[in-house]
Amino acid sequence: MIEDVKAQNELVSVVEQYVRLDKRSSSNLFGLCPFHAEKTPSFSVSPTKQIYYCFGCHKGGDVIHFIMDIEKMSYPDAIRYLAERAGIQIPEPDDIEWQARQERRKRLQMICLEAARQFYRNLISPHGERIRIYLQNRGLHTSTSTRFGLGFALDEWDGLLNHLKGLGYTDEEELLQSGLFKRGKNEHLYDLFRNRLMFPIFDAMGRIIAFGGRVIDDSMPKYINSPETPIYSKGRHLYALNLAKSSKQNHLLIVEGYMDAIALHQAGIRQTVASLGTALTENQAQLLRKYTEQVIIAYDADAAGQAATLRSLDVLAKKGLKVSVLQVPDGQDPDSYIRDYGPERFHALMDRSLPLLDYKLFSAKKESTINGELDPIIYQEQACAILAREQNAIVRELYANQLAEELQASPESVLIEIDRRRNKGSDETARHHEAVQQEKTTIRTQPDSAVTREELYLLGLIATEPSLVQTIDISPEDFSKGPVQNLAAEMLKRANSGDLTPSMLIDLCEGQTIQEKPLPDLMARVCMRLEDLFGQQDLEKAAEEQLWKQRKKKLRCRLDEIRCDLGTVDNPEQQTCLKNELLEVTRQLTRLKQKMGPEPEEKESKT
Ligand code: CTP
Ligand code: MN
Repeated sequence: MIEDVKAQNELVSVVEQYVRLDKRSSSNLFGLCPFHAEKTPSFSVSPTKQIYYCFGCHKGGDVIHFIMDIEKMSYPDAIRYLAERAGIQIPEPDDIEWQARQERRKRLQMICLEAARQFYRNLISPHGERIRIYLQNRGLHTSTSTRFGLGFALDEWDGLLNHLKGLGYTDEEELLQSGLFKRGKNEHLYDLFRNRLMFPIFDAMGRIIAFGGRVIDDSMPKYINSPETPIYSKGRHLYALNLAKSSKQNHLLIVEGYMDAIALHQAGIRQTVASLGTALTENQAQLLRKYTEQVIIAYDADAAGQAATLRSLDVLAKKGLKVSVLQVPDGQDPDSYIRDYGPERFHALMDRSLPLLDYKLFSAKKESTINGELDPIIYQEQACAILAREQNAIVRELYANQLAEELQASPESVLIEIDRRRNKGSDETARHHEAVQQEKTTIRTQPDSAVTREELYLLGLIATEPSLVQTIDISPEDFSKGPVQNLAAEMLKRANSGDLTPSMLIDLCEGQTIQEKPLPDLMARVCMRLEDLFGQQDLEKAAEEQLWKQRKKKLRCRLDEIRCDLGTVDNPEQQTCLKNELLEVTRQLTRLKQKMGPEPEEKESKT
């Protein structure tokens, strides 16, 4: 099944949906890496091996890994996605209910898509003129409006309803579930969105799942949004993430509103997402964490925006995100600011954004300032409480010094006050610390294990030329114990039955790590370099040479182990046993050296 999915999704064509591959070497295509920012192409794809590797950031793998990496999908999801792309039916879990749910979700997505199409048609029709002028007045280019799929809901009670019914969506229960309609007192459905500028809400994959609708005059409410539906849950999505996720910045910028996100994208600040008017939820923080380690919050300058900022900070920090706060000057929001002052000034605001602690202290100071006068008692109370929650002692001390200066107190007394609060809350902090530690250990994968470059070359050579196993005498025991040996065993089995390709090798390493590096990346790198390393050389000779070196390394390693054991074991029987083995291994090593002939100059090529 998996092989089918891979065979039907040619790597170059999949990669080209994301990357322009316009350079080529003898065997590989090159383009700018989609996983890190760069100016010269170091991202390579091998059409014959069906694997990719970036010489800059060292990511590599087969088509499944590519999709996992670029779409942040799990392994099964990536397979499902590629199967769908290739039109392959995959046997779904035998769960009728699950299947029905999937089916229903798909139909609701279709309804949303059809609605968005209709809203768009309305916008570009003569009916949409007012809205087009409104957008123009707010400085939005037509291309921006189109990129965000903006539209117009007509001033009618059943415009969309009739349109969808005409397309065959006649099941009223289903239409209700889409969130686009309501049932009136007379039992009839009616359009929820009427006479509004429409913002489709996309999920991270770019599928439309809900809508927001804005009036274009002063009537209330300003915005109406889709309710929670089977495909949309407010706290689980971020507006514009589908676009921001490929911005290649090392951070994401979070704003409040639709228009803020759109205006910033138009100004080239494409790493922007919008939380749509609320404090961030844990789910949203988790979602952000999939795409970045660093976020900047740029909420409105009003009280609601500042309160939402404070509430969001801890949610984000708890998920391990590095947070800073951009402050839009009074009365403005990012949209109005960038329209008034331009992108450069906005970038300057970004550069001046305050790290989490600085912002919290800044807010505390603002709150403690009454009628323009700072109340030092209230301020020191709040500031010490904030610093008491900081885990890092050095950071605490640095800020304590700063605070001491502001309060005209000694750093020692400030630290005493902080510590007093820490001890009070220490039970709670300890529990938090424990939870964080636990999370860290579960993330870590299998324990480290050693690997030699010879065995990696061997695996690569065999995957490239499986018939090698018929001519060289190789067995799983030739490989280092652990993941590599298991991998070798499986590969040799497949090679013997003529069922092996480089991309299969990479797939077999899925989820395994060596010295904390993902094995698929490592193997992709090796496979990509084989031509450079062994180029025109006879592959059989190359493999043989690597095998002998590998065996020599293994024997030497065993010798070291025996010598070490001899030093620690006192039991005479065990001593004899070890000495015999020492002799035997030495003999094997000598024989091997004779067979290999004079040792060739060891070329230092690092894996
Ligand atoms: N919002 C909402 N319902 C409201 C008001 C606001 O859902 N009645 C959400 C919207 O997602 C909106 C965000 O909160 O985009 C921020 O609200 P606000 O700052 O009032 O709107 P702006 O995005 O600034 O919209 P505009 O500039 O068009 O006034
Ligand atoms: Mn606004």
